[in-house]
Amino acid sequence: MTMPWDRPAHPATPQPLSLLDGITHQHEISWARTPDSRALDPDIARAVDEAVARFDRFAPWVAEHFPETGNGVIESDIQPVPETQDYVARLMERDLPGELWVKRDDSLPISGSIKSRGGVHEVFRLAEEKQYEKLSVASTGNLALSIGTVGPLLGFDTEVHMSVDAKQWKKDLLRSRGATVVEHSGLFTDTVAEAREHSHDAFFIDDENSLGLFAGYAVAGERLKEQFAAAGKHFTEDNPLYVYLPCGVGGGPGGVTFGLKMAFGDAVSCHFVEPTASPSMTLGVFTENPSVSCADYGLPGRTIADGLAVQSPSPLAMEHAAHLVSGFHTLGDITFLAAVNWLERTSGIIVEPSATAGLTIPWRLPDVPDSATHLVWLTGGSLIPDRDKDRLRGQAATASLHWQR
Ligand SMILES: Cc1ncc(COP(=O)(O)O)c(C=O)c1O
Repeated sequence: MTMPWDRPAHPATPQPLSLLDGITHQHEISWARTPDSRALDPDIARAVDEAVARFDRFAPWVAEHFPETGNGVIESDIQPVPETQDYVARLMERDLPGELWVKRDDSLPISGSIKSRGGVHEVFRLAEEKQYEKLSVASTGNLALSIGTVGPLLGFDTEVHMSVDAKQWKKDLLRSRGATVVEHSGLFTDTVAEAREHSHDAFFIDDENSLGLFAGYAVAGERLKEQFAAAGKHFTEDNPLYVYLPCGVGGGPGGVTFGLKMAFGDAVSCHFVEPTASPSMTLGVFTENPSVSCADYGLPGRTIADGLAVQSPSPLAMEHAAHLVSGFHTLGDITFLAAVNWLERTSGIIVEPSATAGLTIPWRLPDVPDSATHLVWLTGGSLIPDRDKDRLRGQAATASLHWQR
């Protein structure tokens, strides 16, 4: 594993070549950076405040259509996972300073994933705008689940374009929820381009460039602060919060990071985690090229972490979130899968492989104080059908055995 911790990189300084070698050879790498302490962009912060108010306005509608939310707030719990921490510490052969917690976006209402935050918000925004009757979106699966559920309920003719990695059960569920599913044989980035081209009379919700999605994700920041406060936890630079976010195109983790910085300032450090086969944000930020493609570096793009199978980063996330990130990390497929097993056997939580991205990353960080809190953002999984869960359990158990060998 390449660990250039001793060379914290400012965006302006030339990067060590060895890191790029590590990425192109699909090694698991970690790249630490000093986040930029520039003030947050006020226009984006305003969009986040508007998103907070919009979710409040729609709460009665959400409560009516998704009674499982109770009060109509689309939110998930946080919980400490001490057994998981002990188990992974044994695997890593090292104790972790601080406490390990998880954020349960795997059970976020509507799509069972983090994508309910951005996708649902953008549909609400369009419903208020009243300009379009037809929506279209391209997705590896979870964004489509959020937009393809809420869109038809709000009267939109909703078309979802699914990339080759999208799971069959997600397509089936979407059809049953009233969306039109268009299946593509290409990877995500090509699917976005084709769907954008195809969406003449529809509003195209562009996962690569949507402020509405980004602002919806960011609403998580202040809510998380309230949840930790209720648990008696308040963070400072000496008593820090580390957050680990699975990253695909970058909008989800980027928006959450922006919201976390609004809520916690320098008391939070955000880390993005991507598959070694498709580290689109890491490559984009490292090469300072928002139109970079993993294919340019010979990377295959296909991964077991289907939600993260993205070849090019979001230019919007590159511009508004990348400078706030403290570390970019990559993981091989076997670690994503094995971690599904570790999490379920220790905490009883079963998630999709993409969602486990952060689980081992805390052990990669140097100089972590004992007072630290580590929050692994579990991003999807509660809607996986039982048959698919059983298959996943089998694959995860095998991966765990291989990993430990
Ligand atoms: C389960 C899961 N986690 C994380 C992400 C990453 O979000 P983004 O692609 O916006 O970076 C996705 C994206 O679809 C996902 O499905």
